Amino acid sequence: MKRDIYGFSYSEVMNMSEANTSPDQADTGKFRVGVVGLGYAGSTHMKAFSKHPKTVLVAIAGKEADRLVSLSAEFNVATTASDWQDLVADPTIDIISIATPNALHHPIAVAALKAGKHVFCEKPLSITAEQAQEMVAAASANNRILEVAFNYRRRQDIGMAHDLVASGKLGRVYHSRVSWKRRAGIPGLKSWFTSADLAGGGAAIDLGPHIVDSLLYMLGEPKVVAVSAVMHGELGRAGYGAMDSAMQMQGSTGLFEVEDLCSALLRLADGSSVALEITWASHAVDDEDISFELLGVDSGLRIFIPRYATEDTITLFGDENGEHYSRRPKITSTGEGHLAVLNEFIEHVDSGNFGLYTGEYALHRTNIIDGLYRSAKSGKEVTIS
Ligand SMILES: NC(=O)c1ccc[n+]([C@@H]2O[C@H](COP(=O)([O-])OP(=O)(O)OC[C@H]3O[C@@H](n4cnc5c(N)ncnc54)[C@H](O)[C@@H]3O)[C@@H](O)[C@H]2O)c1
Repeated sequence: MKRDIYGFSYSEVMNMSEANTSPDQADTGKFRVGVVGLGYAGSTHMKAFSKHPKTVLVAIAGKEADRLVSLSAEFNVATTASDWQDLVADPTIDIISIATPNALHHPIAVAALKAGKHVFCEKPLSITAEQAQEMVAAASANNRILEVAFNYRRRQDIGMAHDLVASGKLGRVYHSRVSWKRRAGIPGLKSWFTSADLAGGGAAIDLGPHIVDSLLYMLGEPKVVAVSAVMHGELGRAGYGAMDSAMQMQGSTGLFEVEDLCSALLRLADGSSVALEITWASHAVDDEDISFELLGVDSGLRIFIPRYATEDTITLFGDENGEHYSRRPKITSTGEGHLAVLNEFIEHVDSGNFGLYTGEYALHRTNIIDGLYRSAKSGKEVTIS
């Protein structure tokens, strides 16, 4: 079965039938979790939190009445709500997990942090840099944890690249080429995903956080100081490129207020650079792939991930004894991304060192994505704080 980067298949998440923690089990001492959002991301959070020995899923919120009924039965959840405020107001909840349209991440997180809850938030952290700053400040001021679901960085190939760069094997990485390309991958055409107000943008804010996070992680957290970007939304506006063919509205004009392509040059503080391209849709090769090419002075590497492949995705390039080489280190399954990130979050909550995890690293990523939009809008290179 094809597995996604969360570690679950889509059908597993949307049609869960596994027996979960019984309400009769002793839950004393466990962190009590409320999940906001009943879609793919929210269901994935529910599954992970309900399985973790240190958490108990006690409440869920969302707009779809039928899914509130089915998911609350599925996970033995006593409290359901149609709006997130009810969960934030519940004094018995320790952790709020946010899996809603992007524009709601900021109000929910700030309210939850102020109410003394820890927050696990889906990517993107927020739709603007200013909002992200407020979220991090709220975590800090209230001594609570704020973490973002950057699950791709937990892939084995990304981890291997991180270790190779850290070991010095590549020498100085002076340039990287990074892309996520889809032939037809606009999620939820005419839904919140393609609304500027609710999503905050299109391909760049949807896919950008994952590849920017993975790249910065591999490179050892360099600072991006400037970006220059262009964006286009032609295909979506013309009705092409829906991920779900049932939603295809070829030839029509629907709610499509965002970009389906972003191309950018990033300048890093150490003088190195990154060429970035993200497409939700394009009349090109009929496929989807994610690619990272790190060009170092001493050697280079490429991670090429066609259709979320989890094996044989990394190749190393270099010269040895006057000959070029390309080697493929063995990669086994890397499908535990979301579970790993969530487990780490719970470990951090359990550690009591809340001040170490206030979302600072996510803030820099948000500043970069925000910079892409500022640059595309102004037609100029912009600086990143
Ligand atoms: N980490 C990843 O790889 C990954 C994958 C998919 C989605 N996501 C992110 O997860 C988030 C949700 O995406 P999705 O695909 O699950 O979306 P979705 O549209 O399937 O689900 C959104 C949910 O939010 C709920 N919601 C909307 N307004 C609400 C309100 N006022 N109160 C309570 N609930 C409300 C909706 O009822 C719905 O259940 C997005 O931010 C997306 O970027 C991340």
